[in-house]
Amino acid sequence: MLKHQLLLIALSLALSSNVYKAQSTVWLDQLDLSVATQGNGKPGINTSVDGKPLTIANEVFKRGFGTHAESSLLIKLNGKVKKFSALVGLDDEMKGQNPAAEFEIYGDNKKLWSSGIMKLGDKAKPVSISLEGIKQLELVVTDGGNGPYYDHADWADAKFETSDGAKLITFNPIASEPYILTPKPAPAPKINSAGVFGARPGSPFLFRIPATGDRPITFSAKNLPKGLTLDSQTGIITGKVDTEGTYEVVLNAKNTKGSASKKLKIKIGDRIALTPTMGWNSWNCFGHEVSADKVKRASDALIKSGLVNHGWNYINVDDSWQFNRDGKDPSFKGKMRDEDGYILTNSKFPDMKNLADYIHGNGLKMGIYSSPGPWTCGGCAGSYGYEKQDAESYAKWGIDYIKYDWCSYGGVIDGLPDNDPNKVSSLAFNGGGDLDKGVKPFKLMGNLLKQQPRDIVYNLCQYGMGDVWKWGDDVDAQSWRTTNDITDTWASVKNIALAQDKASAFAKPGNWNDPDMLVVGIVGWGNPHQSRLKPDEQYLHISLWSIFSAPLLIGCDLEKLDDFTLNLLTNDEVIAVNQDVLGKQGVCLQTIGELKIYVKDLEDGAKAVVFANFGREKVKMSYRDFKALGISGNQIVRDIWRQKDILKLNTVKGNLVLDIPAHGVAFYKFISK
Ligand code: GAL
Repeated sequence: MLKHQLLLIALSLALSSNVYKAQSTVWLDQLDLSVATQGNGKPGINTSVDGKPLTIANEVFKRGFGTHAESSLLIKLNGKVKKFSALVGLDDEMKGQNPAAEFEIYGDNKKLWSSGIMKLGDKAKPVSISLEGIKQLELVVTDGGNGPYYDHADWADAKFETSDGAKLITFNPIASEPYILTPKPAPAPKINSAGVFGARPGSPFLFRIPATGDRPITFSAKNLPKGLTLDSQTGIITGKVDTEGTYEVVLNAKNTKGSASKKLKIKIGDRIALTPTMGWNSWNCFGHEVSADKVKRASDALIKSGLVNHGWNYINVDDSWQFNRDGKDPSFKGKMRDEDGYILTNSKFPDMKNLADYIHGNGLKMGIYSSPGPWTCGGCAGSYGYEKQDAESYAKWGIDYIKYDWCSYGGVIDGLPDNDPNKVSSLAFNGGGDLDKGVKPFKLMGNLLKQQPRDIVYNLCQYGMGDVWKWGDDVDAQSWRTTNDITDTWASVKNIALAQDKASAFAKPGNWNDPDMLVVGIVGWGNPHQSRLKPDEQYLHISLWSIFSAPLLIGCDLEKLDDFTLNLLTNDEVIAVNQDVLGKQGVCLQTIGELKIYVKDLEDGAKAVVFANFGREKVKMSYRDFKALGISGNQIVRDIWRQKDILKLNTVKGNLVLDIPAHGVAFYKFISK
């Protein structure tokens, strides 16, 4: 009996000491936080996202994870992790702004806890939850419903209580190995132009025939309208056509390996940009560091890289070619305008006409940027009060495209305060949704552009306010941004992509919804880095922008293109979906969990379909709901990225096996046979 009791006592002592010993704390900051995905910046280890001490409502914390919405950190647990606790809140470093965010915790994909919407200045909110039985934990910060701007979010004092043998591993489930799908172009010629090109009567005409194949190629054309000539060596068509009408031209290209031809409808009339604009813009790449020299080099690189052979043909200068009030660089300073109110360039752009001539000499077109307010978003001279002079300057220089912003117009929407532009903030966004006052400045510039003796494609950049897609055509614009600025994160691309359907019915030849520029390759707004999108996310981004009939503006350094990025930008079948003459925008016709299926009708009667997996799990299924996509009868299914027919499908009896990586796509064309 005694022996028994002693044994029990010994056993319980051993157990309790075991428990005691096994109870330990693992701090979140001891794990690898670099795998977190977040809206901006780098994960802060014991610091805020800006690298400062973690501070919530004046309380400073020594330990924790400083991040930026939208943010996600995944952690594998092995059943020996008992509890998670933290104090969460918005970091004080964004004082003066209005961030809002919600902290959420998921265990095995079920929501375990949420902070509710938190604002700057809210006291740190405690959380303490049991993790018994949970295998995968996710710490999420959402944008709180008002966009991810300034959402610097802290998981302070975040820690786990564990027992012996506990393992915690952070991970990112999205594959990171780049892989190339686009086949290399053949040595024989192939003409890759869209099927239609529009110009106004009497306007200077410039069209470079995009064609792949070994050089030299000799170009020719049948039925070119009167007034146009083709340079047989370069394939550049110039001149002007005075008579309205549709001209059915046949383009030819020949080299030692063979020849090719393609029909091109030249439509001389009122409407231009009959297919979405394709080209390059300086902003996502250089930001304020742009210069005429860099732009010239981008124009050369567009040719050298071969991108021009796939239809890329605009070289657009964004902000910072003008006087810059907010920038420190002395080359931004000087006079803003001459005595007659004509805008002057800053010293990084010594001669705009010369730059445009250079770009035109390459057979390319040139774009520029301004704002209807007195200041652009970057604090440069805007067009307010000088719209007429600016439109005339653009025409005189030879500009073919203008991106017209909103920044600072909010500050003058009811007139210039004290007649002093310096009293207007560069970032005054208010009023853009007003269907009278918010439309007025765009109408004004639209009228002026149309009076110029050249075609200037007009892009509105007011982020979709007042449902711009409903009135953009009335102010003679050809495209308009539908959403806020893109950045090279998954949250940004996903949120922008999911916001496009609402405007889709308004897309048509000469009118395009613009979900913002591409974030592949080396981007960085002046701080160059490889796009933070994973390869599958980049395939999704390009596939969706293609099916959305979005203007395609490359935002990366064209002198540093890697094979993977080139593969994304030179797939002629992907581009053909975007440039299709019918001009429809693909829309989501079916949602299955996190899988969204977008369908676009094409001119040849076929349908382009993007199966986009927005979820973090691979999608593996046998798909047969073709009716939901408006597809019936016998079909050939073609894999657009691989440029290969993959299946003969009977839509009644057959099925399509989908195997789509997390954040990835399958991009197919369904052709009736
Ligand atoms: C933003 C615009 C950006 C870029 C920037 C320049 O409003 O959305 O794409 O043009 O202004 O300051």
